[in-house]
Amino acid sequence: AELDKWAKKAGLKYFGAATDSPGQRERAGYEAVYPQYDEIMWESGEFHQTTPTNGMKWLFTEPQRGVYNFTEGEIVASRANAERYVLRCHALVWHSQLAPWVTATNWTKDELKTIIHDHITNVMGHWKGRCYAWDVVNEALNEDGTYRSSVFYDTLGEDFIKYAFQVAHETDPNAKLYYNDYNLEYPGAKVSGAARIVSMLQNAGIHIDGVGLQSHLTAEGHPTIDQHIDAISTFTRLGVEVALTELDVRLTLPATPALLAKQSQGYKNIVGACAQVKGCIGVTIWDFYDPFSWVPATFAGQGLPLLWYANFTKHPAYYGVLAALKNA
Ligand code: G3I
Repeated sequence: AELDKWAKKAGLKYFGAATDSPGQRERAGYEAVYPQYDEIMWESGEFHQTTPTNGMKWLFTEPQRGVYNFTEGEIVASRANAERYVLRCHALVWHSQLAPWVTATNWTKDELKTIIHDHITNVMGHWKGRCYAWDVVNEALNEDGTYRSSVFYDTLGEDFIKYAFQVAHETDPNAKLYYNDYNLEYPGAKVSGAARIVSMLQNAGIHIDGVGLQSHLTAEGHPTIDQHIDAISTFTRLGVEVALTELDVRLTLPATPALLAKQSQGYKNIVGACAQVKGCIGVTIWDFYDPFSWVPATFAGQGLPLLWYANFTKHPAYYGVLAALKNA
């Protein structure tokens, strides 16, 4: 019961771990560990929040136009609700893991707005009242703070963001609406870009509640605690909350004691920064169990980014996180 308990003592609303429906886990062949995995995920008290890593994405929820499927997302969401976990819901409008039909046609502006409208009202409507927060728009920015090219931006310009947040607020007025992206954990052009999105929505009178800092970091080159505090404060100063939404700290294999110490410091810096800035409200690690991480499939030669090894012993970084929470 350590992580969530100490997070709450540090003033956070929750400490959680994202998880997936068994059919979507990165590595097959791990069925034998599910009981032990589920015990830590749902029974140990370490976590009190979760996010489905895949099942609520467009590819799964609206694979064909107007054909909705909530099966994968419900596997995680219904367990989370039954356990009274805080549920973050992820993600409504994103260029990746998008159903192929969305990019297969050159839509007019009005057609694409209807598509966005129908997707949000149906998907968000399905989980209405059950999500603490929704990632309404995910990863709309390039590293230099300009907008990323996507079917949404290329067709509608930045209005796609305004429209998505507007429809989201009408659909579930009680859900916190987030803009979510990676590389927002230290000051720079991308943080300025995300701040610009927050201000754009606020100036237009459109509801936005939070910015999600995905926090996919590396052990070798993680930012300092002061850089994290600076970036987080950029958003809280605008009057929105911040959450660490997909935290992991990957390393180059093989792991050495020196690298594991750097990984621990990386976790400690960012969790400590969140605990120290009022307005940074919670931390989600992107799964807790190394074999189910997205990292090895994406970055050749890198891995072990989470807090529990394959044999369910804990990384040194687990104690780094605890120390950050206890010292806050
Ligand atoms: O759907 C198939 C399934 O049928 C099959 O059994 C399984 C076997 O491995 O593969 C499944 O597809 C995979 C899917 O995850 C579900 O596991 C894809 O190949 C794989 O590419 C996909 O990766 C996900 C990735 O988003 C896609 O961009 C990761 O699990 C997920 O953790 C990751 O999460 C993203 C956040 O949503 C946004 N921020 C970045 C983060 C990391 O990429």
